[in-house]
Order: sequence, then structure tokens, then C-alpha cells
Amino acid sequence: MHRTKAILRAALVLYLGAATLTAGAQPGHPARHPAGASSAGERDWWKNAVIYEIYPRSFQDSNGDGIGDLNGITARLDYLKKLGIDAIWLTPCYPSPQVDFGYDISDYKNIDPKYGTLDDFDRLVAEAGKRHIRILMDLVMNHTSDQHPWFLQSRSSRVNPYSDWYMWRDGKGETATDQGAPPNNWESLFGHSAWQWDAATRQYYYHRFYIQQPDLNWNNPKVHDAFKEIISFWLKRGVAGFRFDAVTALYEDPSLADEEILKDKDGQPLVNAYGDPVLNDSKTDNLPSVHVVMQELRAHTDTFSLAAFPGTRVLIGETYLPNVAELAKMYGPAGKPEFHLPMDTQVAFINKLDVAAFRAKLNDVETKIGDNTPLLLFDNHDNPRVQARYGDGVHDLDIQRALAAVLFLSRGAAQFYYGDELGMLTTPPTRKEDVKDPIGITGWPNEKGRDGERTPMQWDASANAGFSRGRPWLPVPPSAAAINVAAESPDPDSLLAWYENVIRLKKTIPAFARGRNTMLDTKNTKVLSWMRKAPGGPPVLVAVNFTAEPQTVSLSVPGFNGKLKTLLKTPGAADPDSLKAIQLGPFGVFVGKILQR
Ligand code: NOJ
Ligand code: CA
Repeated sequence: MHRTKAILRAALVLYLGAATLTAGAQPGHPARHPAGASSAGERDWWKNAVIYEIYPRSFQDSNGDGIGDLNGITARLDYLKKLGIDAIWLTPCYPSPQVDFGYDISDYKNIDPKYGTLDDFDRLVAEAGKRHIRILMDLVMNHTSDQHPWFLQSRSSRVNPYSDWYMWRDGKGETATDQGAPPNNWESLFGHSAWQWDAATRQYYYHRFYIQQPDLNWNNPKVHDAFKEIISFWLKRGVAGFRFDAVTALYEDPSLADEEILKDKDGQPLVNAYGDPVLNDSKTDNLPSVHVVMQELRAHTDTFSLAAFPGTRVLIGETYLPNVAELAKMYGPAGKPEFHLPMDTQVAFINKLDVAAFRAKLNDVETKIGDNTPLLLFDNHDNPRVQARYGDGVHDLDIQRALAAVLFLSRGAAQFYYGDELGMLTTPPTRKEDVKDPIGITGWPNEKGRDGERTPMQWDASANAGFSRGRPWLPVPPSAAAINVAAESPDPDSLLAWYENVIRLKKTIPAFARGRNTMLDTKNTKVLSWMRKAPGGPPVLVAVNFTAEPQTVSLSVPGFNGKLKTLLKTPGAADPDSLKAIQLGPFGVFVGKILQR
């Protein structure tokens, strides 16, 4: 049941779809990294980074209003340090009417009072820096809030200086007295027409997401300049980069031609969770001009190197794309880099434990993106969590261990979502009147929204799970009584301990930190096995059983006679002595070093 829902959601979201600066660093910030931190390490930190996504509203409330905040995150940095992360991706905490919980921004250069102040933000950056944790901001460039001063100006009259900052169009067949029909059949990813009539301007504006999120006009050079200034503002405050939200949606086809309506095998129009026809999005998504903008914004970002905050500034992309060829393009052509880390949704949303599919998709990012670095992930604040999409209800803990091994022991940067390390469950609302995420109201009951994966972080077994002394903005699920940090931290067999262990291997074993991935035993349909090897060092091996039955694998690695040293294994499993007979329990994992003799 949950799997079907997960696939629906993945499909929904798939449509979502210099000068070296020395000025501007905040006084009083300590150097982020100790003297002697290697410059190659600072340059390449992101290539093997462990990135932890925090939805600030749901992580830790410090003032009892039931909403998580920046001071709450700062108070939990030691937990994150112990977990072993390199960076926090902070979803939007700018001033916002909160229609889309922060993805509707009304001021790009401030912090929403619900989350704190700019001083709190600076303190978070400084305290994280002391622990070698970097902060990545989330930047929404496709749209603003309808309460942003740019849009308020834009809608105030057709001749306002901001009138061409957004996508205004006449209605079809409009007359002096009739607004006419929307300009075409384009749909919002959050349901219904993407065009909203505005009585003051007597035109429609385009919004790919909520009505309160009008799309900016990226054909206007002033929009580019405004975002370069915003990027500079935050980089000078010490952020290590950005995740660019909905970046494939920046441009639309200027012809404004209708999108094609997709049909099922019987020729009937497909209908989505909102009751609208399913459209091909070739006129509204992933248009080539996105690459031109990315080259410009990357060149701008690359000019930043601040003495107070060393390290490469990194651009992560929210890049839901149809295939690896499109993903490869997001890194940019030779000499014109774009993203450092466009997210790989190919691996993330396989949505079933299919060994051949995992092998093929992981091989793709090893062989089809040039020398670039993959960004692997399984979930985020828009999708049901790992357990909801891959669990079988019986072996969920082992399945989550297995997927964590894939995530952290494959080559590249790895991103995960707060609470995944505990095995937090997706807990959707059961009544429409409890839904907070507006898509869950529009789409009820087919689409219950994203509240289920945004429930408060589970710190302990108390009534509000240690998240807040007030009433949490979303309810704490009953499963928090057992699934929480306090219960899992002392237990060496917990999922939290497993996450700490795989992250430690990723960060400390050179073959995991830098080695290429080579798939082994490539005909096996039950067990995924791969080897990592850094130049000059011993190879390491990972074998993951993707089935509920015990399996034995026999592997061979040319030049090695097969002796193994265990680095990590599923609790209770035996140590194999040889590559020739690795026994794995249901969804079992073995990680070992391959010895010369
Ligand atoms: C993607 C974000 O991750 C999602 O939460 C948001 O609703 C849309 N973009 C619109 O900004
Ligand atoms: Ca609060």
C-alpha cells in the first residue's frame, strides 16, 4: 500500500518536479577550520561530503512555540558532529508567509522571526564551523512569495518598473470586459491551472507551484543581477553554498503552446491526484536556457574565497531529470561548469529493491557523468522516507541498513534527511482537517501532502519527543516512543549506530573516500556487490543482500587471493574468511577490506 503511494509521490515530484573577496566576513567569527586544515581538503570537501538536510520547522524548537528554529539547530550541533556530517542543507528560513513553509520567500536577505534573527544565523554558522560543519542555504529562484515587494510592485500596474519581473500574459480571447481563458493548458505542479487572473493588471500570471508563488521572469537581466547579489550576501556571511530549488523550472517555452496531454495504453487521458490531465512538461521544464543561467551563477559563486570562511562554495541542484544524460548536462560542458552536485534522482527513486536496477543506475553515475561527482540520496522533505518506500514491514531495519550502505559506501557525496538515521517513519495525517501542506488539501485523499515526512525530530521518548515544550506544529507520531535518539544512541545495534559506522568508514578509509566504484558479480540478481579502490591502497568490498532470504556470494578480484578483514557487518552476522563464501542474512550487509594474502 505504502509502496503504491510512494511511487505516486515520486512521479508527482518528478514533475515538480574573482576577485578574492576579503570584505564582508562577519566580525567575531572564528576561522571555520583549524590552522593547518589541508588546502586540498578545503577545495575538495564536497566530493565525499555527507550532507544532512534539516527542515528547520521540524528539527528543534528552542522557545516553546512549537516551531523549530535556528537556535534549536545550534543547540543540537554536537549530535550532528558525532553523527559525522560535513554540511547541513537548511531548507528556507527566510521571511515568508509560510504558504509553502518557506518556499514562498518575501525577503531574501533576512531570517523569518519564527526561525530567529540574522544574529542567530551567524551564530549557527560560527558554531557549526567550530565543529567543521558547513551550512548550505536553500535558494528559491523560480518564484517568490506573492507578498515579496517585487511582486507587490509588479502587480500594482502594467507600467511599474517591476512589471516585467514576473510572467504576465493576456487571457485567451480577452476583451475590455472579459478576462478571457488562461493563456494555455499549463498546470501548476500543485494542482489546476498554472495561470492566475489578477484584477488589478487585468492579466494572468504564471505560477508553477502555489498561486502565492508567482514565477519570476528569467528573461529579464535584472532578475539575474538580483540573485547574484543575494548569493553574495549569504556567501559573505559564511555559507558554504546553496541548494537551488526547482531550478529546472526557470524557463518556459516562449511560444506558450499547450503541453501535450498524456494518455494511457487505451488512449484515455491520464489523470493526476488533483483530477487534472497529466501533461508532458517539455514546454515548462528543463529548457536549455537553464544551463546558461547556471553557468553564470556558478562563475559568480566561484569568485568567492573568503579568508574567514575557507573552502569551495558548492552548488547543489534540485534536478528531477528523466535520465543520466540530462543529469550529466547539469555539471556543465567543458570549461563552463554548472552544478557541483546536481541531485541524482535516478538512483533515489528506483523505489524497489531491484539489484539490476541499482547496479545499472550506480554504474551510470560511475561511467556517464565524466569526472564529476555524483550526489546520491534517497529522500527529502518532499517524498516519503526510505522506510515507507523500500520497507517490507518485516525487515525494515535491515533494509534501512542495506540502503545506508549503498548511500554512504558508493562514490560521491551523500545526502540524507533528518531522522533517517533513526528510522523515523512517514506518518501522514489521517483526516483532511489535520493537513497542513496545502497540496494535501487540494489532493485529498489521493495526495495527502508532505506532512507525513515533516513530523518533528524524535530526540527522546517524552510526549513531544524532546522537540518542543509547546504544542508541535505537526503531531509527534506514536512510533517516537521507540524510535528516538535517546533510545538508539547507547545501543550498538541501532540504526543510528549503523549510520555513524558507515559514515565513519566513508570518511576515514581512503578507498571509500576517493576510490572508484567497480561492480562485482554483475549477473547476480539477489546481491549487489561492489569494490572501491583508491590508487595505491587496498581495495574494499561491500556486499548487500537485496532479498529476505539468506544468500551466499562468491566473488573474485583479480590480483587478490581472497582473504578478507571485516570492517562492518549486519549485527549478528558471521565474519567470512574469504571472498569465495560471504554469507549474508536477509537484507544483510558485509563490508570488508580485501587483503593481499
Ligand atoms: C521544491 C521544494 O523542495 C518543495 O518543498 C517546494 O514546495 C517546491 N520546490 C516549490 O518551491
Ligand atoms: Ca520556535
